[in-house]
Amino acid sequence: MAKPSKRFVCRQCGSVHAKWLGRCPDCGQWDGLEEFTVSASSSSGGGASGGGGHASLSAEVSALLGPSTALPICQVVSPEAPRLSTHISELDRVLGESSLGAGEEAQKVHGMVPGSTILVGGDPGIGKSTLMLQAAEQLARQGHRVLYVSSEESAQQTRLRAQRLGAGSENLLVLAETQLDRIGEQIRKANPAVVVIDSIQMIFKSDLPAAPGSIAQLRACGTELVLLAKTAGIAMFLVGHVTKQGQLAGPRLLEHMVDTVLYFEGDRYHSHRIVRAVKNRFGATLEIGLFEMTESGLRQAPQGAGVFIQELQPANGSVVCPVVQGSRCVLVEIQALTATGFLGAAKRKTSGLDGNRLAMLIAVLEKHGGLRLADQDIFASSVGGMKIGEPGADLAIALAIAGAHLNRRLLGPTAKGAAVFGEIGLGGEVRRVDRLEQRIKESARLGFSRIICPQALPSRPPGCEVIPVPTLAKAMELLS
Ligand code: TYD
Ligand code: MG
Repeated sequence: MAKPSKRFVCRQCGSVHAKWLGRCPDCGQWDGLEEFTVSASSSSGGGASGGGGHASLSAEVSALLGPSTALPICQVVSPEAPRLSTHISELDRVLGESSLGAGEEAQKVHGMVPGSTILVGGDPGIGKSTLMLQAAEQLARQGHRVLYVSSEESAQQTRLRAQRLGAGSENLLVLAETQLDRIGEQIRKANPAVVVIDSIQMIFKSDLPAAPGSIAQLRACGTELVLLAKTAGIAMFLVGHVTKQGQLAGPRLLEHMVDTVLYFEGDRYHSHRIVRAVKNRFGATLEIGLFEMTESGLRQAPQGAGVFIQELQPANGSVVCPVVQGSRCVLVEIQALTATGFLGAAKRKTSGLDGNRLAMLIAVLEKHGGLRLADQDIFASSVGGMKIGEPGADLAIALAIAGAHLNRRLLGPTAKGAAVFGEIGLGGEVRRVDRLEQRIKESARLGFSRIICPQALPSRPPGCEVIPVPTLAKAMELLS
């Protein structure tokens, strides 16, 4: 029998190398390569991307793999139900939509695609297991058989949690197991439509001489589970932990294998949680799902709830911005603080905002807003932990910084003050952003009667003042 060979896989990008290197040639990460052993059969069949040929797969998976034949695409049988809905609309929307039927009668269905694998990542304690159990229960209530594999908690602990969440369907099967082969066996026996693996980091293959959670185990278990889902038409959720840096621990690797990657966002000290798709082969990655953690599990935040703003008076350095995420418009409070630092070593820190964008906005404020910020420490954050990447929040961030520095604020005709949005260009101009009408309407609906934005609407909501501003300097004049 041929000797097992050693390979090195990068923790950051998942690329595989034949020898150890101090720096990954693919992604540039230093000290990121980790050794793992490949058995002779898998190294000959799979290579870098496959993670093993079929010879290395367990009997359960191999039994399901029929002979492969190429077919014309029109002859490929499409699945009966294109999507399985979890009946949790915030989650379903993030999972993606398909059209059922044709022409005018076409219906939109949201949810999981059978045969697909969905990786759910997030900090410990943010609510992954809670959401998975709630989704599993909803699917089971519709008559789908669901297998919930708990590799971290015992079946009793899962039952306790289920009681708290009001889950107890007959179709929801619980298995407390960490060995991949035994999980495969149970899947074959129970023949479920949906499987939840909570969490993938604790699953191991007994014939691999590596610890659970190591790159070698994640690779092997991930590949087998993804293949199992595809061949048996199972919709599978894999739960994964996230490191302090916010990346899925180890498994950049897993991100490449799965069809959809969902991340939980949110400050664990606040009750709001955001589920965001960062990769989706079967849907858009713009959508977010908004939840609130309550005593009886995660509750969906109703459409249009002002969850990231507080009922406070306008304050210096605090600006409310309507942020568009997929089909949703959410009002988020952006806060900034400036404090005297050291010239040449001033700190610039963000939370939930993009650091590079902040640096650019500071430069524009210096050049076109007349502020001197070179010796100022600047802190900017999005309240509630929502990550904001869109440039539509530029104007709000810039006005928050200017307000904090000048000790001024944005007032409105009513107590709530003003809502602000718009992109800022390098010339200090305020640029148009998309979904103008939706942002204005949403702000007005939540009681912001003054809206500062790039352009006016032909019709404005009643009782609401829309102030178009062509430049950042003009917008700064509105601070009082
Ligand atoms: P959990 O789903 O166990 O997190 P993860 O699987 O991501 O590690 O969520 C745990 C947190 O959620 C914990 O701090 C308690 C809280 N929680 C509630 O507030 N209400 C509930 O009904 C449940 C089940 C958990
Ligand atoms: Mg958990």
